[in-house]
Amino acid sequence: LTYSTMFNPPAEMHDRFEAAAAKVRAGLGARHDLFIGGKDVKAASYARVTSPIDTSLVLGEFAEATVADVDTAVAAAKAAAARWRKTPVADRLAIMRRAADIIEERVYEMAAAVALEVGKNRMEALGEVQETADFFRHYADDFEANGGFDRKLPNDPLDGWVSTNRSVMKPHGVWAVIVPFNFPFALAGGPIAAALVTGNTVVHKGAPSTPWSGWMLADCLRDAGLPAGVFNDLGGGSDEVGKALVGHKDVGGVTFTGSHEVGMAIQRQMLAGKFPKPVIAEMGGKNACMVTKHADLERAVLGCSRSAFGLSGQKCSALSRIYVDQVVADDFIARLTKQVESLVVGNPLEKPVYMGPVATKEAYERYKALLAELAASGGKILAGGKLLTEGDFARGFFVAPTLVEAPADHPLFARELFLPILMVARVASNEESMSHINNTPLGLTAGVFGNAAEVDWFLDHVEAGVTYVNRPQGATTGAWPGYQPFGGWKGSGNTGCAIASFYYLPRYMREQSQTVVE
Ligand code: SER
Repeated sequence: LTYSTMFNPPAEMHDRFEAAAAKVRAGLGARHDLFIGGKDVKAASYARVTSPIDTSLVLGEFAEATVADVDTAVAAAKAAAARWRKTPVADRLAIMRRAADIIEERVYEMAAAVALEVGKNRMEALGEVQETADFFRHYADDFEANGGFDRKLPNDPLDGWVSTNRSVMKPHGVWAVIVPFNFPFALAGGPIAAALVTGNTVVHKGAPSTPWSGWMLADCLRDAGLPAGVFNDLGGGSDEVGKALVGHKDVGGVTFTGSHEVGMAIQRQMLAGKFPKPVIAEMGGKNACMVTKHADLERAVLGCSRSAFGLSGQKCSALSRIYVDQVVADDFIARLTKQVESLVVGNPLEKPVYMGPVATKEAYERYKALLAELAASGGKILAGGKLLTEGDFARGFFVAPTLVEAPADHPLFARELFLPILMVARVASNEESMSHINNTPLGLTAGVFGNAAEVDWFLDHVEAGVTYVNRPQGATTGAWPGYQPFGGWKGSGNTGCAIASFYYLPRYMREQSQTVVE
């Protein structure tokens, strides 16, 4: 599979997905242990994880790690670190590429699993698993092409003694990777691949609702031939386990993807020890799109609807607010309403379904509370705005994709919802759009539909790390390794350089200046 097949799937892709989904469904319910020091490790307790599509469907029993398991996993990673760092780069790269091949071999069955576990549709599920394989290849290629980011520097002859100078990039040791529920493969696999290829060993913690995907990824890494202890999986551990991992004295760095609040807390925690430790934090978004009076409305409608409702709006990159010029607002809003009403909601494993359930009971309850809030605060619901509870919907967390028109100062334009609720406001000018777009502490993705001059002006003024122009495939979503570096500005991320960008891998290393006099 490739990035482009996600938009033009061949028929065979559907047949293979369906066969894999049937196989995966037939094998549900197994018990899954932790993976520490190259071995399956039993846990003190196991959680039954169910599907958001049908809460009577038990996906499996998953080990619940404790703080004691954190110590064991970090000790295993630490013990493996010296040897992994010294493993010849060619061998490290070969393992990374083998992992990519194995992920690809299992793409259909792992996509079926992530569709069942998160509730994402089959194309999004296939896309996520393929993207994970692409991360492993991308970082292996990047590390190789840049010679591990080491640099030979000019010799300096001082006082008649000639120094040979080099800048050498070295790993930090043990790297913790903390992953959210929405992309349990790609947001695990990306940072894991980056940490491993740069010579760190890894302890991974997934989200409590999605331990299965993490376990499957761990299984691929085991089969790729990683030496024992180089990769360790704590399953979908609790917050307490996450805190113990981040605060562990032998953890050298952390990649966290998740909410702004937790990301900020982790950064404070990493400064609280005896010395500061690196954190790569990818946090929330309140992503906006500007639709100007010169926009191609057909493209805008498609791009906005895809980005707002893909994965039920539960992406950090999801579109949640649109500012549309009043000149085209009636036309745009009418077309968008029709488009949102036409989205097929249902069991995401089925071919025509665009939007599955929301991923957790907590999200479902929050959607319900927001409907009450909207009713009280004067938002006009143009499409959706209801829980779906009839028939097969009754067993899962299904809600209708929802479009709301409200004045731009309505409070829901300011709060990250992480739900399929899209707010739209009419504005008098592009300047007004931009002032709303930038009036947020977050700055992850942003989109524009307009003419060439408007686009230049937009790109010059917008405060966001990832921007999309006139893009029907997604107005704010759909970054892919090697094509769109992905990282937030302001409160959305602290990287200042994005996932899969040229500048990303050096963040997993520390520079050593080596000056040698012969
Ligand atoms: N890669 C996904 C996107 O860009 C989610 O982070 O939408």
